[in-house]
Amino acid sequence: MSARPPIVAPSLLAADLSRLAEELALLDPARDWLHCDVMDHHFVPNLTFGPIVVSAARKLTTATLDVHLMMERPWLMVEEFRRAGADVITVHLEACRETREVLRQIRATGAKAGLAIKPGTPFAAAAPYLPDLDLFLVMTVEPGFGGQAFMPDMLDKVTAARDLRERQRLGFVIEVDGGIVEDTARAARAAGADVFVAGNGVFRAPDPRAALAGIRAAVAS
Ligand code: DX5
Ligand code: ZN
Repeated sequence: MSARPPIVAPSLLAADLSRLAEELALLDPARDWLHCDVMDHHFVPNLTFGPIVVSAARKLTTATLDVHLMMERPWLMVEEFRRAGADVITVHLEACRETREVLRQIRATGAKAGLAIKPGTPFAAAAPYLPDLDLFLVMTVEPGFGGQAFMPDMLDKVTAARDLRERQRLGFVIEVDGGIVEDTARAARAAGADVFVAGNGVFRAPDPRAALAGIRAAVAS
């Protein structure tokens, strides 16, 4: 993607949706992204929101909308999420049959294409797709819920992706998602991550503004 981060992406999942405008005012749209977790109660046990909420967020912020689809058959809704205002659309490798085709479909809408892998999925399974990606998302918790503990073992995948990116001179960014607070963000940055999703670590912190500033500072390089 054009600018090589670091970027912090507060996750809407942990925001108070009854105060959406106030919550989104926390972001600096020039540098932060808004991460939107779409869950379908099939791919993951939880159920969250769809394009309607993404389009509400789109009206409230000019920040990059980073839409993480934790759903089965994501290809059926790619265009709809793009129309709702998604800038980056990430699908799960585990949910795709024709992965390359889905990535092409995302790019054809004008959105950036992301691919995510769950903790149990090895890096090698995603490696063949990295040349086709704008963003590679390494889940650092089991997808489905916010507020879980960061899995440090996942950082080996981050480093493997960074090394492959350097070797092949590729341009995708590496995102980590789950359990991100200052310390885990710093560790993920050292491993090679560029984009840091933080739900509870920002919106449920005693002082969300200070927490966001703290994570930004922890990953500043
Ligand atoms: C988990 C979601 C995450 C979630 C992270 O399935 O993909 O984006 O919002 O939440 P925290 O930062 O609270 O672990
Ligand atoms: Zn997510």
